Amino acid sequence: MFATLTKQGLCAAALFTAFSVHAADKLPNVMILATGGTIAGTGATSTTTVGYTAAKIGVEKLIEAVPEMKTVANVKGEQVFQIASENMTNDHWLKLAKRVNELLKQSDVDGIVITHGTDTIEETAYFLNLTVKSKKPVVIVGAMRPATAISADGPINLYNAVGVAGSKDSAGRGVLVALNDEIQGAREVTKSSTMLANTFRAPELGNLGYVVRGKPVFYRATARKNTTDTEFDVSKLDKLPEVDIVYGYANAKRTPIDAFVAGGDVGIVHAGTGNGSLATPVKDALKEARGKGVVVVRSSRTGSGITARNGEANDDELDFVAADNLSPQKARILLMLALTKTKDTKEIQRMFYTY
Ligand code: DGL
Repeated sequence: MFATLTKQGLCAAALFTAFSVHAADKLPNVMILATGGTIAGTGATSTTTVGYTAAKIGVEKLIEAVPEMKTVANVKGEQVFQIASENMTNDHWLKLAKRVNELLKQSDVDGIVITHGTDTIEETAYFLNLTVKSKKPVVIVGAMRPATAISADGPINLYNAVGVAGSKDSAGRGVLVALNDEIQGAREVTKSSTMLANTFRAPELGNLGYVVRGKPVFYRATARKNTTDTEFDVSKLDKLPEVDIVYGYANAKRTPIDAFVAGGDVGIVHAGTGNGSLATPVKDALKEARGKGVVVVRSSRTGSGITARNGEANDDELDFVAADNLSPQKARILLMLALTKTKDTKEIQRMFYTY
C-alpha cells in the first residue's frame, strides 16, 4: 500500500515538476535591472512617505517582495547601480545603455524592466529610447512611496512592469514607462507632481495605454523614430558631449551662459518663457556662445506645445536650433547625442524633427 502511494506520490511530483518546467518554458524571460530610487527606498515608519532614504533595498529583495511575478514571467535580477536618481549622470546612462543592449542581444532575454528613481525616469527613458538597439520591450518603473510605507506602490508597479515587458504587444513601441497602471511613451512622459502617485503624465498627448490584470492594453503609438530606427550608437562611447540647460524668467541674466561657455560646454539648451522667448541679455550671451561654436537649442519652460523655429527668435539669423515640443531636459539629451554625430545645426534641426 505504502509502496503504491509512494509511487503515485513520486509520479504526481514528477508530473508537477514537468508541468512547472513546461509552464515556465511558456513564460517570457524578463531581466530586472535595478538602479535605486524610492522603489528601493526605506523610511523610519510605515507612514513615512517623505523624508525617507531612496536606493537602500537590493534587487533580490525587490523581487522577493513580489512572488506573484513568477506567474507572468521568469525573472532574474541585476543591480546595475544603487542611487537616488537625482544623482544620475551621463556615465550611468552609458553604462546602463551598454548593459541593456548586451542583454537584449541574448535569445533568452525577452524583455527588460529597469527600476529607477522617479525624479529622472523621463530622462533615462528618453536616452534609452534613442540608444537601445532592439525592438524588444524595455520598461522603466519606479514608485512614489518607499517600500516600507503603507500602500507602497512599488510592488504593484513592478508586477505590472514585468507583465508589460514580457508581452509581445509591447515590442517595437520604444522605451516605455509604467507606473500607476498607466503606460507612457519615453519621449513625452514627464514627472508632473512632487508627490502624487499619478505624477507621470504626457501633457496634451496622453498615455499610450494601461496595465490591466498585469497585461498591457495599448491605444496609441509614439509617432517619432526610436531604438533601432535612430542614428545614435553609444557602444563605443566612454563620454558624452557637455551640454547644460539655462532657465528663462523675468530679469534673467547672462551669467550662467557665460559660465557654461567658460566651463567648456559644446551645447546649451535655453528653457525660455512662452514659446522659447529670449530676454535681450540672454540672447546676446547665446549669440556670443554660438560665435564660439557652442550649439544653442531654444526650448520652453511651459511644459507643453511646440517651440517653433523662427517664432520668438530669428533662428535662421542666429543659427540656433528649435526644440520642437521636447522639454528642456529631453532637448539636452537629444542635443548631446546629436553632437556625437555632427555640429551642423541644419542636421541637428533635422534630428529634432525626427526623434
Ligand atoms: N530621490 C528621488 C529619486 O531617486 C526619489 C523619488 C522617487 O524615486 O520616487 O528619484
